[in-house]
Amino acid sequence: MPRVLTGITPSGTLHIGNYFGAMRPAIELQAGGDAYYFIADYHSLTAITDPEERRGYTRGIALDWLACGLDPAKCVFWRQSDVPDVCELTWMIGSLTPMGLLERAHSYKDKLAKGIAPNLGLFAYPVLMAADILLFDTNLVPVGKDQKQHLEMTRDIAIKFNLTYGETFAIPDAAIREDVAVVPGLDGQKMSKSYGNTIEIFGDEKAIRKKIMGIVMDSRTPQEPKPDADQNLAIRLLKLVAPAATAADLENRLRAGGLGYGDLKKALFEHTWSYFAPYRARRAELAANPDHVEKVLRDGAERARAVAAATMARARRACGLR
Ligand code: TRP
Repeated sequence: MPRVLTGITPSGTLHIGNYFGAMRPAIELQAGGDAYYFIADYHSLTAITDPEERRGYTRGIALDWLACGLDPAKCVFWRQSDVPDVCELTWMIGSLTPMGLLERAHSYKDKLAKGIAPNLGLFAYPVLMAADILLFDTNLVPVGKDQKQHLEMTRDIAIKFNLTYGETFAIPDAAIREDVAVVPGLDGQKMSKSYGNTIEIFGDEKAIRKKIMGIVMDSRTPQEPKPDADQNLAIRLLKLVAPAATAADLENRLRAGGLGYGDLKKALFEHTWSYFAPYRARRAELAANPDHVEKVLRDGAERARAVAAATMARARRACGLR
């Protein structure tokens, strides 16, 4: 059974693109019985500098994931900073990481291009991420395409450590999510916080309704048949949130003519809202019980620390730190 691990950076509010693209697949992987998921609060240090904001996002991510079906009985779920071994490991592997490797990182170059002032944290981000992965003897890392290069760097770093100090780390594979549909945003581009085209999973009812009813479509009359109904943005989203038969029925009615865009968008809102209703209820329950959520994270950290301690002992011995 491969060990699966992924990190979730607490730097924003989750949208349904995150849900269908990353959360649902990760939650399904729990069934394999060896899944490790953590809230990457150390990673958020390069993005946010407001302590309350960081605490808020961290807590929010924990609630979101637990509400959407992450089950601490089936996986290990913790807050990265509760297992600070990862920082020591970052230094150990960072001391073998060539500057050139880090200089080639797309994420780093993109940030510089955006005018973000570089610092050591931003530059070393892939090393911390490699440490996250190697610390837990990870076999598979489910990530989006944007993280592919970070996984290649992790492998390079692990191989170099093993060659230098002897077999220490498992070499992980990326499980790039190519098969999951790209979730379109309100403007038809990929749904992404940076495009401002998102539908939040736990957004306010009025705001979500307004966003969905505001989707711009073309000027064809309701009666006109629409042979391209399968390309319609609302239909594509309905296929994710509505029962298959309902989505197919609406698509057929749109294709045949007679279904107006207003009614279509109303259906999209209703199905989006009801799809997440059980998760909303669960989230409200969890939010009312912060001690429980804190305990879940602490228990997770304890289990994570046990695995981390074994890897650290091996890695320290290998390089002569003990
Ligand atoms: N960098 C990842 C992202 O932005 C988050 C992350 C941090 C991560 N550490 C990780 C993902 C380890 C996978 C494995 O999405």
